[in-house]
Amino acid sequence: MPARWAAADMAGQHGRTALVTGANSGIGFHQVLELARHGACVLLASRDPGRGQAARDAIMAELPAASVELVQLDLADLDSVARLAGRLLDRAGGLDLLINNAGLMAVPRRQVTAQGFELQFGTNYLGHFALTGRLLPALLRRPGSRVVTVSSLVHRLGSIRLDDLQSEHGYGPWRAYSQSKLANALFTEELDRRLRAAGAGPLSIGAHPGYSRTGLLSSGPRLGGGGGVSALVLRLGTRFAGQSAARGALPVLRAATDPQAHGGDYYGPGGPGSRAPPARSAPPARSATPGKPMTSSSPAASGRPPRHSPA
Ligand SMILES: NC(=O)c1ccc[n+]([C@@H]2O[C@H](COP(=O)([O-])OP(=O)(O)OC[C@H]3O[C@@H](n4cnc5c(N)ncnc54)[C@H](OP(=O)(O)O)[C@@H]3O)[C@@H](O)[C@H]2O)c1
Repeated sequence: MPARWAAADMAGQHGRTALVTGANSGIGFHQVLELARHGACVLLASRDPGRGQAARDAIMAELPAASVELVQLDLADLDSVARLAGRLLDRAGGLDLLINNAGLMAVPRRQVTAQGFELQFGTNYLGHFALTGRLLPALLRRPGSRVVTVSSLVHRLGSIRLDDLQSEHGYGPWRAYSQSKLANALFTEELDRRLRAAGAGPLSIGAHPGYSRTGLLSSGPRLGGGGGVSALVLRLGTRFAGQSAARGALPVLRAATDPQAHGGDYYGPGGPGSRAPPARSAPPARSATPGKPMTSSSPAASGRPPRHSPA
């Protein structure tokens, strides 16, 4: 596997079926595009049928022979999660790859999901937690299957507030986002630990895109009228220091397809700055203690043996 990995270095994905959440825009769109270009049958999940159809049309215009199916999924509604998972479990063949990619960031005022969970925690983490759990039987059916969960560098600022997980007693747009992204990272590690303990085949792998120019910087703040100075600073910073959505998708794509990947690995830009090519880095997750910084853990520290994917 070359050190300077690019989408063209991806192994053929013929015969594999992948589901990408939040795939109508940003880095998710480019994950679908490249997986489909390399032969995978891709389920493009979008909460909005119109935006999903426009994304699929754009991919089919570039890759007329691609196999891309639009599926509806609103992660802020656990009934929608259950509906999609039920449909996919009814299909023959199973699932080779689930990419938990969708997200929203920095919603200015506290909002809740259909079931009453704080919106960022509910969408970014709980929706994906429920989706992964429901789809595990489909993943277990396929040798070499993977779950890739997208976190963020911002997880380092987060803590899991077990005493106020839903931000009912105090809400901060960035605090809720960083908590949700830390939860994504912890989920990746814990899923890996449980799959190993059960001797199960699927790998759980984490990834982050660095800073990428996508709709993420505006979609959350739009829900509440702007996002304030911090959102503006981040938008400006990302405009100058960030990378394209296509490049931001690369760490996720490498995590999803690298034959050398181990369960519990974490992929991101492999150097200072977001524009470095994707590479494996130390896993980010930290043990959850409410209100306290969390301590690092790594496969070496935890004594876990590396587990390779046959894919
Ligand atoms: N861009 C960055 O610099 C950056 C950095 C670190 C981590 N990330 C992570 O990368 C992932 C992708 O974000 P992006 O940067 O590509 O942003 P994006 O362009 O805004 O894409 C986010 C996707 O998530 C979807 N989504 C939001 N709420 C949803 C819901 N309730 N149900 C289903 N889908 C929903 C959005 O759908 P709509 O189009 O309908 O809103 C959109 O398709 C996120 O997990 C984000 O946290 C991004």
